Amino acid sequence: MLLRITGNYDEMSELAAGIVAERLRKNPALVLGLATGSTPLGTYRALIRMHREQGLDFSRVTTFNLDEYIGLGATHPQSYHRFMEEHLFQHLNLDRRFTFIADGMAKDVEAHCDWYEEQIRLSGGIDIQILGIGRNGHLAFNEPGSSLGSRTRIKPLSEETRRDNARYFASLEAVPTHAITMGIGTIMEARELILLASGDTKADAVKAAVEGPITAIVPASIMQMHRRAYVIVDQPAAAKLTRTYLG
Ligand code: GLP
Repeated sequence: MLLRITGNYDEMSELAAGIVAERLRKNPALVLGLATGSTPLGTYRALIRMHREQGLDFSRVTTFNLDEYIGLGATHPQSYHRFMEEHLFQHLNLDRRFTFIADGMAKDVEAHCDWYEEQIRLSGGIDIQILGIGRNGHLAFNEPGSSLGSRTRIKPLSEETRRDNARYFASLEAVPTHAITMGIGTIMEARELILLASGDTKADAVKAAVEGPITAIVPASIMQMHRRAYVIVDQPAAAKLTRTYLG
């Protein structure tokens, strides 16, 4: 794991966007894995700025999002489809035939998950995957206890995650109870991973993921097994780490 502790959220975001931009300049047909949540927003803003000001070209990029809520259609204000549209897609020159997000309204969820995995395979696999982390150590919607070899599938959301994400909804009851999520096995096949974390509410999760034992109870800890995993965190999120360098 390559650990980088930045002074603040903006530096974290710039560093992550810089890595993605560098990979994209080398490989214009980059396959980019994307995450939702508040953490990657600064990275997305930086990528949008690079697109506008430096002409960073996304026209040949394929994207795969980590997850989507079951029961929310693409135009639902709280869907991850809408989130990506608002915060990234509409600001870039992506070819919209190649921006993949699981369909929360799929009739046959299992078949849809298999199709999603197949699209990742057909794209040649994800080159670089951006990740956030839940306070309970979840990756995407792989909640504690998720199989470390899991593939894209439906998962129930923990009460803790539903409470954390309730801030985006009118009430806790409005937060979906299930999601489609890439599996941990799927995420681990990406050639590079970038985990972002900001703020003291993530300090325990970051410590457990980076310095704790590898365990399904902390899904993000599996990143210790990845050959090219960047962990980019700001100082508050790094506060509980006992080591400040990992090579
Ligand atoms: C959700 C997403 C995760 C994300 C997490 C943290 O549960 N499914 O992919 O990492 O929230 O979100 P935030 O960045 O808002 O703290």
